[in-house]
Amino acid sequence: MRILVTGGAGFMGSNFIRYILEKYEDYEVVNLDKLTYAGNPENLRDVEQNPRYGFMRGDIADAKCVGDVARGVDAIINYAAETHVDRSIMEARDFAVTDVIGTLTLLEAVEKYKIPRMVQISTDEVFGSIEKGEFTEESPFLPNSPYSASKAGGDMLCRAFIRTYGTPVIVTHSVNFYGPNQYPEKVIPLFVTNLLEGKKVPLYGKGLNQREWIYTEDHCRAVDLILHKGALGEVYNIGTGEGITNIELTRLILHELGKDERSIEYVKDRPGHDLRYSINSDRLRHLGWKPKTTFERGITKTIQWYKDNPAWWKRLKSKKFQEYYTRQYIER
Ligand code: NAD
Ligand code: DAU
Repeated sequence: MRILVTGGAGFMGSNFIRYILEKYEDYEVVNLDKLTYAGNPENLRDVEQNPRYGFMRGDIADAKCVGDVARGVDAIINYAAETHVDRSIMEARDFAVTDVIGTLTLLEAVEKYKIPRMVQISTDEVFGSIEKGEFTEESPFLPNSPYSASKAGGDMLCRAFIRTYGTPVIVTHSVNFYGPNQYPEKVIPLFVTNLLEGKKVPLYGKGLNQREWIYTEDHCRAVDLILHKGALGEVYNIGTGEGITNIELTRLILHELGKDERSIEYVKDRPGHDLRYSINSDRLRHLGWKPKTTFERGITKTIQWYKDNPAWWKRLKSKKFQEYYTRQYIER
């Protein structure tokens, strides 16, 4: 099987490429990535020499470039996106272009080059916030940030292509990923690396917002199953049921790193901050998937990875990174 993975130089895309190359000895993977600030070729140094792996720098919103790599593949897995909610609040346009027009460009390529299947990697954030209970795959989209609205736009185009042209697409909505190689702008790597640097952690509002977490490997197994066994035209939620508030998460990280609450700095809340996400993933579980890594185990492994790989994250937390965050706090 020859797979086109888009956004493969990012956090989850790189974990997925490594997983596929290790699991299937005869599979080939082409990685199409624009290499934005979030795309890091270092994430795949260990597979660069693998003859079954190829990389092309390019934009999923560029039809010619997509055509060059998509022609002849057996499947496309679309991980490419602008992904950080805080950035989307400052610069919404990049999100709309990549997450909507980029997805549209891939759908057109699936049609034009008769690609047998595409898996759209999307988020639980498209459903908006839920105080109690959980969203199902049939819940309406009520996105609250430019990021989630852009992802919802891409997902709706998938739905429209399925209904209108019978395009062979499967859409996934996942809870928050965590694990090795996550860019240190997202809460877990940001908090862990801040504490390793002896800094405080900026907790938004009162820290009462709740997220559900999935470890990298469990998400890779879910996408692998959906790629091979998922029904075309179907939607699958990917969740663990492991919901935790941000203050609980922060306390867990503080404890693991031998710190106390004096390391918390309560800062101004994120505008439009969703209180709680929670999804029902029975459909995927009936297909034969369940998570293997508990949050307790996964967070310990993740913290250890950041402890063991300071060179990886220190470069990303450079002056430019700091300037970005300073600007963000001043603007809020
Ligand atoms: P990331 O931000 O770490 O990486 C995104 C990658 O996409 C980068 O390598 C970047 O260079 C590339 N990219 C961005 N724009 C591109 C373009 N126009 N053309 C080609 N490549 C481009 O992302 P992530 O956190 O690993 O998320 C991967 C996917 O999973 C995204 O679609 C995201 O919406 C979705 N998702 C993420 C989470 C999460 O918790 N991180 C949860 C659910 C769903
Ligand atoms: O739910 C899936 C989504 O999870 C993905 O679709 C997104 O791509 C991904 O970025 C993530 O979005 P979140 O907004 O949930 O992730 P983030 O790590 O930015 O924030 C997690 C929670 O932590 C959120 O409630 C905001 C809070 N937070 C975040 C940062 C960066 C803080 O309190 N302080 C911070 O500095």
